Amino acid sequence: MPAKLLLSDALARIAADVDSMFDAMLPVPDDARARLIEAMRYAAIGGGKRLRPLLLTATAELYGVDFSTALRAGVAIEAIHVYSLIHDDLPCMDDDDMRHGKPTVHRAFDEATAVLAGDALHAFAFEIIADPDLFPDPFTRAELVLALGRAAGMNGMAGGQMMDIVAEDESFDLRTVTRLQQLKTGALLGAAVEMGAILGRLPPEGRTLLRGYARDIGLAFQITDDLLDHEGDEAAAGKALRKDQAAGKQTFVSLFGPERARQQAQMLVDQAIAHLAQHGQEADLLRALARYVVERDH
Ligand code: IPE
Ligand code: IPE
Ligand code: MG
Ligand code: MG
Ligand code: MG
Repeated sequence: MPAKLLLSDALARIAADVDSMFDAMLPVPDDARARLIEAMRYAAIGGGKRLRPLLLTATAELYGVDFSTALRAGVAIEAIHVYSLIHDDLPCMDDDDMRHGKPTVHRAFDEATAVLAGDALHAFAFEIIADPDLFPDPFTRAELVLALGRAAGMNGMAGGQMMDIVAEDESFDLRTVTRLQQLKTGALLGAAVEMGAILGRLPPEGRTLLRGYARDIGLAFQITDDLLDHEGDEAAAGKALRKDQAAGKQTFVSLFGPERARQQAQMLVDQAIAHLAQHGQEADLLRALARYVVERDH
């Protein structure tokens, strides 16, 4: 199948599957918690490229993992991502009013509900991957929990978000900005690939090339997010743009300018694809995904 078609098919399929899983797993209760679950559903269903679940399922597929098993883990990592966006948009963080083309959770509901919806989605992710009914093998469960916990916490996304805030007032060198990006965004994208490899029962020593692939697309992904902030189209992005410079955020774009940042992202994508050289056409979806990371408009 041509790469573009392969990717658009896969993106459409994962979007529909993730939506229906969230829908089925988050029924609104008939009690005073209803507002919380409504806010979780508002954030989690419809919208979002579902890149992390797609990375996870595409990696798992390389090792013959059954799609519905991989999809469950994909929903868990997406729940972490959605929680991170709800909190990222809060007034105490980026103070954004729009996400996925609609008002952010604290705008549509209120701040307390947004904080709680984020908290509950965070917990929900671990409820999924630690559930023996969903992942019967205890070793696999423990490995999934460790990978996701590491990627979400102080040595991953939350740590990167802290650096991102500190970067508004301090001037970081290239090494520090690279680390910030790797933690803020790269860690969770890396966990998607890692969790796919875990489900495929690939031993850690066999994961080196996949980790290289994930590291490169993680950085290329955030450079592109920053380029889109600099010069993208708000309607396509579904969120406010041109905010990073005003907030004094330090990015590859602020360090290098857009032209060199774009070259850097492209170079990283080529490098990511080179890490897949030992695979045949079964890795074409991962290759197409790597290109999409820099070619996307939202
Ligand atoms: C946006 O991530 C936030 C970053 C980590 C840069 P995505 O661009 O993957 O978000 P959605 O879910 O597809 O909107
Ligand atoms: C957010 O990065 C990364 C997260 C961990 C949520 P940004 O603040 O650049 O993401 P957008 O631009 O709001 O989507
Ligand atoms: Mg932010
Ligand atoms: Mg933001
Ligand atoms: Mg951004």
